[in-house]
Amino acid sequence: DPVTAPRPHPYTIAHRGLSAHAPENTLAAVRAAQRIGCQWVELDVQLLGDGTPVIWHDNGVRRCSNSRGKLIKLDLAKAKTLDVGSWFSDAFRGERMATLEEMLELIGELGLGLNLELKVNRGRDAQALVDAALPMALKALPAKQLVVSSFNSQALEAARDLQPDVDLLRLGLLYEKPPRQWLTEAERLKAYSLHVDWRRLKEKRAREIKEAGYQLLCYTANDPVAFARLWPWGVDGVISDDPSLFTYHLPMPSE
Ligand code: G3P
Ligand code: MG
Repeated sequence: DPVTAPRPHPYTIAHRGLSAHAPENTLAAVRAAQRIGCQWVELDVQLLGDGTPVIWHDNGVRRCSNSRGKLIKLDLAKAKTLDVGSWFSDAFRGERMATLEEMLELIGELGLGLNLELKVNRGRDAQALVDAALPMALKALPAKQLVVSSFNSQALEAARDLQPDVDLLRLGLLYEKPPRQWLTEAERLKAYSLHVDWRRLKEKRAREIKEAGYQLLCYTANDPVAFARLWPWGVDGVISDDPSLFTYHLPMPSE
């Protein structure tokens, strides 16, 4: 029973931290997630121009800061001058971009699980990202508190090369829609999970994934009523901007 069976991770993961209620991918968003009882968070990591891994989603800083331009144009000193909170609300004015190192420390302190997404935006180097970010994450968190995912197969390959042991590194394959050859890909990378866009998931594919023994997570799910028809397919969890929507709305057989 997908609703009541014990799970290797809680069935909700806070997308970019508690991004419905705090500026995404910040320390504040992770603290907020923990405060409402989330046990897992999903965060994006990429590199600044000086090679520092930071928690950030976009190629540029315009949407989520008081500045503009490309992330790759910033070094750490400059990145730390940006206000990454007030775009969301005045309550978060003065929030600073988090380095991966700072974020891992907080997650360790709070005892959370982390789904770290290796975000390879256009023109960026997958190998450099893995080399800088992955050893740091593996060192900071126990293997059971970490799932590393990516849309980018080169990043996933580099990650698996760096840590071939499936018990020491759980890899998640991210897909907008799992392609026909998803199983070949999953086997090659010795994947732990598939993370798919719930709006494009079909029952047949979901059941295939579960029958093959993989964890199946869905992003970005913010509508528990619309989502309810997917649970019976064996979905293991949702990545949500506000997991409390799901905590207080357990899917009922009638839905
Ligand atoms: O990891 C799930 C989800 O975060 C993937 O899409 O664009 O929000 O990073 P995005
Ligand atoms: Mg992401």
